Amino acid sequence: MIDCHNHTLPGIDDGAHDMEMAMEMAQCAVKDGIDTIVCTPHHLNGVFSNDRQAVLEHVDALRTALAEAGIPLAVLPGSELHLVPPLPARILEGDALTYADHGRAALVELPKHIVPIGTETILEQLLYQKITPVIAHPERNSELIRQPDRLAEWVGWGCKAQLTAQSCSGAFGKQIQAQCQRWCREGMVHLIASDAHRPHGRAPILTAGIAILCEWLTEQAVEILSITNPRKLTAGEPLLSIEPAPVKRKSIRDLFR
Ligand SMILES: [Fe+2]
Repeated sequence: MIDCHNHTLPGIDDGAHDMEMAMEMAQCAVKDGIDTIVCTPHHLNGVFSNDRQAVLEHVDALRTALAEAGIPLAVLPGSELHLVPPLPARILEGDALTYADHGRAALVELPKHIVPIGTETILEQLLYQKITPVIAHPERNSELIRQPDRLAEWVGWGCKAQLTAQSCSGAFGKQIQAQCQRWCREGMVHLIASDAHRPHGRAPILTAGIAILCEWLTEQAVEILSITNPRKLTAGEPLLSIEPAPVKRKSIRDLFR
């Protein structure tokens, strides 16, 4: 499996503190069946800047450490890009990293509680630049939980959505889990990822989330979210969409049974 969102690169954001912790996270990922990670440190979130060159250098250092430790985990560069007005220009000028540095799709994040004024303009600018915005964990944004149709509108424009595996398995509460299920069943979701920050707790584990997806979706849809689309992202290819799950309608006979 490929994990397209995690904070394994040590010492550059709120993820792994040091290389030792990064190695522990890598071992945990491998144990879960992950063979490739796209490292996505925060970019321009008000605390961390992490421009493209800095991330590339840290990815090289992590690859070297993994090879020396004999841990079979491939590492690709990426960033979790805060949706701020300078972002489209930063990508255009090569200062901000897209997935695997392909210049095709970008992992973008909103603040935790609001959708700032101007968000739609930034998304439109990215789309105009032929960059596909992949919205990181929309289920963890309070305003999108209150107004879930906003995500549907963005997906209609060509944006994609990535759920956090632990949100699906209920680690962030029932309301967030229920919204994950609704968006999955509406066909609004394109992949899941770990968003791991630590070797324990917020760990690089996908299988628990995938097990829950199997209860909500067809086998084919689960494969798209967990295998096919992560592969496509790392190859710089367009993502597939999943079919909305049919709504089970009760017949009048069921009501009186
Ligand atoms: Fe993240």
